[in-house]
Amino acid sequence: VGLHTLAKSKGKLYFGSATDNPELSDTAYVSILSDNTIFGQITPGNSMKWDATEPSRGTFTFTNGDVIANLAAKNGQLLRGHNCVWHNQLPSWVSSGNFDAPTLTSIVQTHCSTVVGHYKGQVYSWDVVNEPFNDDGTYRTDVFYNTLGTAYIATALQAARAADPDAKLYINDYNIEGPGAKSTAMQTLIKSLKDQGVPIDGVGIQAHLIVGALPGNIQQNIEAFAALGVEVAITELDIRMTLPVTDALLAQQKKDYQTVISACQNVAACVGITIWDYTDKYSWVPSTFSGQGAACPWDANLLKKPAYDGIVAGF
Ligand code: XIL
Repeated sequence: VGLHTLAKSKGKLYFGSATDNPELSDTAYVSILSDNTIFGQITPGNSMKWDATEPSRGTFTFTNGDVIANLAAKNGQLLRGHNCVWHNQLPSWVSSGNFDAPTLTSIVQTHCSTVVGHYKGQVYSWDVVNEPFNDDGTYRTDVFYNTLGTAYIATALQAARAADPDAKLYINDYNIEGPGAKSTAMQTLIKSLKDQGVPIDGVGIQAHLIVGALPGNIQQNIEAFAALGVEVAITELDIRMTLPVTDALLAQQKKDYQTVISACQNVAACVGITIWDYTDKYSWVPSTFSGQGAACPWDANLLKKPAYDGIVAGF
């Protein structure tokens, strides 16, 4: 039985994978990705980001994003939109800091409403705001925060809600897998948005993790988010190791995948899990973390690793 079918049978909404446009010419890759018993959800790894969708002000390009959205629709898979507002992969016309507060507010509104509006009716959930926090729980001083303070978060969420009232609106971040300053900051933000009547439906826990170094209490941390009245999703799961691969590392990785899956499985409000691509062939890890890799449940030959069995065991 496929991972998505298994997740559904255990009460989850989906098990899914990220993908990216260049990989879609690999037919062996696509045939596994498109098997909706394995993956019931996909996320575009890059093609809905700001640099891809609004490379110059007011000029929107949805060609690559549409390819992923259409693939999900054809396969009968849910789609997670990723993302509206993020400090990375921003075109320089935005990151330049050349705009005053009213102008940047309007730029954020236009961007979120146009992108979310374009995919209206096609998206289960949107990562409206991505990575707003530093690891110490302070706000990241990107162009949005520097110009607008925290107000950009409500601006983005309200624009997204108006553009697609049926999409679940998420804030997504990394290093909020376990309790700590960053998770506390996220909880404070969620509470404050709710108090102000700003639409917020979910917290996305990225979960870019390291073999043998998982934070403790992942389940308790998910429960703490859920207690605020939002749903939770594991949005970008991968568990990397220092290369070369050894049997011992693969065995630990299997355990670690099982730990993450069961933490989500044990909390009703944790609706689904997305791996940040399913195969080491297309993982972002080796090009980002020098000397590390092998983070996915399928190897570079599209063969299942022990991590795959860890996922099965976690449900
Ligand atoms: C990564 C993509 O996978 C890469 O292809 C790209 O070069 C950089 O971004 N957190 C996120 C994702 O929210 O958007 C990032 O995706 C990985 C970290």
